[in-house]
Amino acid sequence: MKHQLRVEELARDERFVRVDLFQQAMDPRTVRNRAEGKGSRRPPKLTPDRPDASEGARSLMHGIFMGEIQALEGAGRTCWDFPTGTGREEAPFELKLDMARQCWDETRHVEISVKLGDWMGTEIGEFSEATFLYEAACNPDPVLRLTGVNRALEGLAIDIFNTMRDFGQASGDPVLEFCEDWMLADEVTHVKMGSDWLRRMTATDPERRANALEFQKVVDQLFSLGGFRGEEADSPIKLARRFRELAGFDTAEIDEIAELSIASRQQAEAMQAAGAAQAQATADAAPGPRGVVPDGTGS
Ligand SMILES: [Fe+2]
Ligand SMILES: [Fe+2]
Repeated sequence: MKHQLRVEELARDERFVRVDLFQQAMDPRTVRNRAEGKGSRRPPKLTPDRPDASEGARSLMHGIFMGEIQALEGAGRTCWDFPTGTGREEAPFELKLDMARQCWDETRHVEISVKLGDWMGTEIGEFSEATFLYEAACNPDPVLRLTGVNRALEGLAIDIFNTMRDFGQASGDPVLEFCEDWMLADEVTHVKMGSDWLRRMTATDPERRANALEFQKVVDQLFSLGGFRGEEADSPIKLARRFRELAGFDTAEIDEIAELSIASRQQAEAMQAAGAAQAQATADAAPGPRGVVPDGTGS
């Protein structure tokens, strides 16, 4: 079997529709792009009273389902891609055991997600597949795989599962609530694996640790876009501090993610304000009832 399988070579049947991250982000059915949220100060929080709550939740959970498949593929590849050992280009046997255990968990998550999709009325492939998780799992350094996938993306999964568990409870859907709760418990373990292996494998190599944390930050930044994940009451995805602590994040690391989210939200708001100002300026300059009297003299 081949080592380092490229993303294009992943096995999928005709049900799956693969798109890049940008195209997926533009899907009008997602929580952040719903027409109902357009013009609001920031991406809208998903609440049961919204008319689009069902489609927003189905879209989000289909994205999670795709992530579960790729997390399984990524953890499996990490068992296989590296020779077993403690050298720079190797993966320790105990790390591979952890990845094998993760494969078992992710397989169960795929099954849960398929059944949850049936329950929610979603067909496989109804929403697209973006491959960023598997791409992060293709990093040639196993430590960077663990920071990019286990710490950054599965850290995000913790935030999403926690948020959607609350959404399930608020909307009176015990199936959604319990599915999220069970998967959340496993994700805390997976993120903790990432935290433990990062510290263990870079204990005497500060440069490698810095690279790994930088890679994690880049991935975290990508998913804090526009304040999608944050700590405010109306953040669409709530940063789950307590579960991140259990998963081996220290307070400074959690604060850093919160700050990234704030900066990213402010950036999005500034862009939105600039866009609105430009649109207003264009409207003011256009010929019309108000545009013909720029000097205020009227005629
Ligand atoms: Fe999972
Ligand atoms: Fe996981």
